[in-house]
Amino acid sequence: MDYRSLPVFPTNFLWGASTSAYQVEGAWNEDGKGPSVQDARTSFPEGTTDYKVAADHYHRYQEDVAMLGEMGLKAYRFSVAWTRIIPDGDGPENQAGIDFYHRLIDAIIAQGMEPIVTMYHFDLPQALAERGGWANPQTVDAFVRFADILFREYGEKVTYWLTINEQNMMIMYGKMLGTTSLSGDEAQRDLFQQNHGMFLAQARVMIHCHETLPGAKIGPAPNIAYVYPETCAPQDMIAADDWNSIRNWLYTDLAVRGRYNSVAWAYLVEKGWQPEIAEGDMEILAAAKPDFIAFNYYATQTVAAPSGDASDLRQRGADQQMIRGEIGLYKAADNPNLPKNAFGWEIDPVGFRVTFRALWDRYHLPLLVTENGLGARDELGEDGMVHDDYRIDYLRRHIEQIRLALADGVDVLGYCPWSAIDLISTHQGFGKRYGFIHVNRGEFDLMDMARSRKLSSYWYQEVIESQGASLDG
Ligand code: BG6
Repeated sequence: MDYRSLPVFPTNFLWGASTSAYQVEGAWNEDGKGPSVQDARTSFPEGTTDYKVAADHYHRYQEDVAMLGEMGLKAYRFSVAWTRIIPDGDGPENQAGIDFYHRLIDAIIAQGMEPIVTMYHFDLPQALAERGGWANPQTVDAFVRFADILFREYGEKVTYWLTINEQNMMIMYGKMLGTTSLSGDEAQRDLFQQNHGMFLAQARVMIHCHETLPGAKIGPAPNIAYVYPETCAPQDMIAADDWNSIRNWLYTDLAVRGRYNSVAWAYLVEKGWQPEIAEGDMEILAAAKPDFIAFNYYATQTVAAPSGDASDLRQRGADQQMIRGEIGLYKAADNPNLPKNAFGWEIDPVGFRVTFRALWDRYHLPLLVTENGLGARDELGEDGMVHDDYRIDYLRRHIEQIRLALADGVDVLGYCPWSAIDLISTHQGFGKRYGFIHVNRGEFDLMDMARSRKLSSYWYQEVIESQGASLDG
């Protein structure tokens, strides 16, 4: 639907930007921090760095946060490294780690920004991973205790809490993100048992948050890639619906409605991968209610009906936007309407609006965008600035769709693109950059790590200052 005029963004709209601890902080073993699964990794894609130094945000957070404030951001989304707070996941607390996030949150608030805290972003304490990870009920208990410490320490300063970043990615790309080291059916069974553990942990933490912090708001943060059918053939539609259920709605239905999506559950039973559900689990899941749904959006996906043979296994896209079919379930398809970025990820701004509508129609909960952005091999220009017009174009086209979603009646709380500053990507090291702020380091040569604002940061500042009106210019 076209509109004669579009609304301006609400005055309390959370214009923000995002990072995650292990990708930005560095200082991987300083001040008592314990190892996470990301620190324990011994292999990285060829030619890419580990996470030991990252963007050195741990030491330079004041300068970074000041630059984000200068951009006029209203919010900064970051994650807390569990192993800074509790080095082995469930043992003694580490005061130095607790103090660091007090300082970070204070700096964010001093810049007039709202801290949005992700409690867990791909960095499970290694000690817990060695004891079975999320499949072990002790990890669930440990997460509830970790959350309790966060609420106790930061509850007076933080309103917005995100439980788990991209639980669905940790299940779908379990090997890459360090969720499992097993293979084949054994890995799948382990992953879906861990998935159940994460659902329980999330539910208990949401309940606990509401009991202890009545003014706080808490929600899940999955990666949602709405799935299109390749054609209007009904069989393609069923394939798309199946994959939407397994990839997307499994996670949001559990978080919001407190029950397994029936198509996703039927798939797990069919495969023999359904988790064991202990007595009382379903009651806990049903009792938890999020205040909003946060989601990360990079692109849609497109699938076709399966042929029932090995040709179903073909692969499209790359990294966590990669889609690989399953025999008898769906076949990955190209979407000829969509361009791809330099890393093979499709670009679909209109799909963003489709995704807003789908989530809003299903749940009628406010939506908070916690990631969206363009990874690119940025270069500093001769004037010392990154002229990232390609990123401006990407962001503009996505923000325009948020405005349309608002006109459609969707309640959108805010937009926090990935990423606030350059950091290490999950697949392509430091060479793939997303930030508004450039960090002067190479893949292995740390250089001087100097910060400088990219052109996109000035453009975004104007959008924020004008409440989106500059998009019309
Ligand atoms: C999301 C993750 O999946 O995508 C981030 O939450 C990640 O951690 C981002 O960095 C971009 O993906 P990539 O692979 O380009 O870093």
